Amino acid sequence: MRTDDAPLIRLDDYRPSDWLIDTVDLDISLHPTQTRVRSLLALRPNPAGQTDAPLVLDGDELALKALSLDGEPLDASAYAAGPQGLTLHAPPRRGFTLTIETEIDPAANTKLMGLYRSSRVYCTQCEADGFRRITYFLDRPDVMSVYTVRLEAAKAEAPVLLSNGNLVATGEVPGSDRHFALWHDPHPKPAYLFALVGGALDHVRQDYVTAEGRKVELAVYVEPGKADRAGWALDSLARCMRWDEKVFGRNYDLDVFNVVAVSDFNMGAMENKGLNIFNDKYVLADPQIATDGDYASIEAIIAHEYFHNWTGNRITCRDWFQLCLKEGLTVFRDQEFSSDERSRPVKRIADVRTLRSTQFSEDAGPLAHPVRPRAYKEINNFYTPTVYEKGAEVIRMLKVLIGDDAFKRGMDLYFERCDGTAATIEEFLACFAESSGRDLSHFARWYEQAGTPTIVASGRYDAAAQRYTLDLAQSTPPTPGQAEKEPMVLPVRLGLVGAEGDLPLRTQSNAYAGDGLVVFDGPSLSIAFEGVTEPPIPSLLRGFSAPARLELDLSEADLLRQFTRDSDSFNRWQALQSIATRALVAAGRPGADPGALGATAAELGRALGGFLAADALADPAFAAQVLRLPAPADIAREIGKDVDPDAIFSAHRALSTAIGSALLPRLSGLRQALETKGPYRADAASAGRRALRNELLGLVALAAPAEGAALCEQQFETGDNLTDRLAALAAMTLIPGERRERLIARFAEAYAGEPLVLDKWLMAQALIAEPATLERVRGLMRHPAFSLGNPNRVRALIGGFAANLTQFNRADGEGYGFVADIVVALDRTNPQVASRLLGSFKSWRMLEPGRRRQAQEALGLVARTPNLSRDVSDIAERALA
Ligand code: PHE
Ligand code: ZN
Repeated sequence: MRTDDAPLIRLDDYRPSDWLIDTVDLDISLHPTQTRVRSLLALRPNPAGQTDAPLVLDGDELALKALSLDGEPLDASAYAAGPQGLTLHAPPRRGFTLTIETEIDPAANTKLMGLYRSSRVYCTQCEADGFRRITYFLDRPDVMSVYTVRLEAAKAEAPVLLSNGNLVATGEVPGSDRHFALWHDPHPKPAYLFALVGGALDHVRQDYVTAEGRKVELAVYVEPGKADRAGWALDSLARCMRWDEKVFGRNYDLDVFNVVAVSDFNMGAMENKGLNIFNDKYVLADPQIATDGDYASIEAIIAHEYFHNWTGNRITCRDWFQLCLKEGLTVFRDQEFSSDERSRPVKRIADVRTLRSTQFSEDAGPLAHPVRPRAYKEINNFYTPTVYEKGAEVIRMLKVLIGDDAFKRGMDLYFERCDGTAATIEEFLACFAESSGRDLSHFARWYEQAGTPTIVASGRYDAAAQRYTLDLAQSTPPTPGQAEKEPMVLPVRLGLVGAEGDLPLRTQSNAYAGDGLVVFDGPSLSIAFEGVTEPPIPSLLRGFSAPARLELDLSEADLLRQFTRDSDSFNRWQALQSIATRALVAAGRPGADPGALGATAAELGRALGGFLAADALADPAFAAQVLRLPAPADIAREIGKDVDPDAIFSAHRALSTAIGSALLPRLSGLRQALETKGPYRADAASAGRRALRNELLGLVALAAPAEGAALCEQQFETGDNLTDRLAALAAMTLIPGERRERLIARFAEAYAGEPLVLDKWLMAQALIAEPATLERVRGLMRHPAFSLGNPNRVRALIGGFAANLTQFNRADGEGYGFVADIVVALDRTNPQVASRLLGSFKSWRMLEPGRRRQAQEALGLVARTPNLSRDVSDIAERALA
């Protein structure tokens, strides 16, 4: 479809379907290039639809083989069929059945939407609109049907045949080398949750009994020979199921729960009912091929997809505008699960880092959109940090605002009232309005208004009156299509920090802050705290209680005091981040004096030295977060306009190096103290020690390169786990020279045949902040470990390069040109991966004029390419608009 013909789909145009499909009987005979699909649909008019409507079924690159109505072949004049749809001009005004036969070619499906083959395994991906690439259907989430699926395949090729629901029967196909499996899913579901898998797969399994007493067989399927890497995913599954019973009162509802790992997958994973399909990167783990970070994300994503069973599947979305109804809520749920399994404060810090780097940057650029968009051209471009991460923040704020108790009752009400339906944000919020007795209409603006609010705060202390007055003002910058902004409901958790810790909060009206929560919902607010016996340091947005930018002009000395005294660990961490951010913003501005960093570096070095000596070993995971400065890209976003990435990067390097030098005398002793004896264990405490130890390795590499290089070599050669060995490689990439190249080669040798590990190797090289990186990346595209056909490889190497602040944003524009060319090439085979890659341009408008011009040119080159997919043209258009 050409760019200009892609229609804009609007929330306001939503109409219920004219037809419903009560049951679907699929008979799918798998073949690598000629898979036959017979679909028997039981249709009836929707009482809520139009009575004289034709029946228009969606299709995408389909070919019709046969069609009959109530068992009778249909006359050609009664319908029109094409690749994009099937229309019955005058369907009966009653219930009837339709039998549709199509033939599809899974091997030729490089878009990885619909039915495709991944390393000899048949699998499907139907969200958002892939089912229509399998058969003609009403492919919209508010059409929910009961599916019965018969799968047939050659026994040798696909001994394992899986679909949604429960297994009903299996058997041989007489007189052939084929067999079949019959699956039935009693829960009505939208087509996007349909899935099938066929192939030669190994598995691990475990029995599980739900709190309600249902016996469930859990299984994780992987490529042959990899079963010993599936244990962590299986273990995570059982743990998150227990957690959902305990915390949300949700039990599982089928006799089996299957997870399948495939090596070609556009996204992270997919919550198909009873048959979750995963990118293998988020399933396979053992200490040799997975880092601590991988263990944590496997646990989180297994939980995320499982949690969708209630928030997404049992209660699904009425239309795709409601995507955040399932995604924001399910991200919130998986974040809570990980917080309970690991360290809550450290998880919060990590999540806020992700939110700021992905969502704040989206909100600040041309691709900004509300958590619930009002219009789209291509829904696949709206699986964004805004819908997911900001969507989760909205749920978190709701909980803070109405309190744990009303939140829990609201969730229960939602599960009870909306179970089995395709729901909306309005229906969701109504449950919490009811449970809390609160009017949430103003709060609902979080779903409608894009952009990151800024809170400007200032305080005055009146010693004579023992009064501290806090003034707050809020504003939200314009975003595409939303020039004027209204004030948001901002839950501001706060405290006043005195010499001995938190001071009691008393206000005259008692309207605010007795419990440390201020609901800031107007343009400005002034709060006077009484009985304040000493000049306090305001601690605002504790736990990051609202996804906002905070401008609060505390002195460096106050921030350092806050770091040591605040009772809120998030704000302790934030205090040092604020010091570093402020210094880096000043030093990274065009024409700034880099010498200005010296004083801050000394202060931070002293503070961190004291911290490391005093309590770093008590909570190493937290200490690792404290030591990690804000990323250069965060500084770029703070500067916001006329950004010079090189200046920011130099400032960042200088500050890190100076901190490293200040800490150097302690580092080797600390690293020794943090060493873990005995075999690798994946638990959070061990991971925290490794995280801190490896953070310190990075500092040595910067401050004392020769010593650092030797440490990296030693850690690589003696390390017994991927976390330590990859950290050695990453630290070594900071040290140009021959030793680095040797370690890079050693790494490739050590992990030849491990594509997921080599992805990390590709990415570590793509992130090197040196001008030679572009040539290196070009070279790596010819390495046997790389393939443009595999999304993980592309994301690692090309996505890694596009995340390299200084090299993607090269002043000569070569970085943009390189990525743009790949987007165009990739668009022909896999538009979704191509359009995500093009999203790397989302911050181009904040650059200095030279780079801005170069980026615009590259975007223009993409936009002008003939026959672009809707995915890529939509991003190109919006980025340029
Ligand atoms: N629904 C999936 C999730 O968030 C993401 C996804 C979207 C996967 C579209 C594939 C395609 O869990
Ligand atoms: Zn999800």
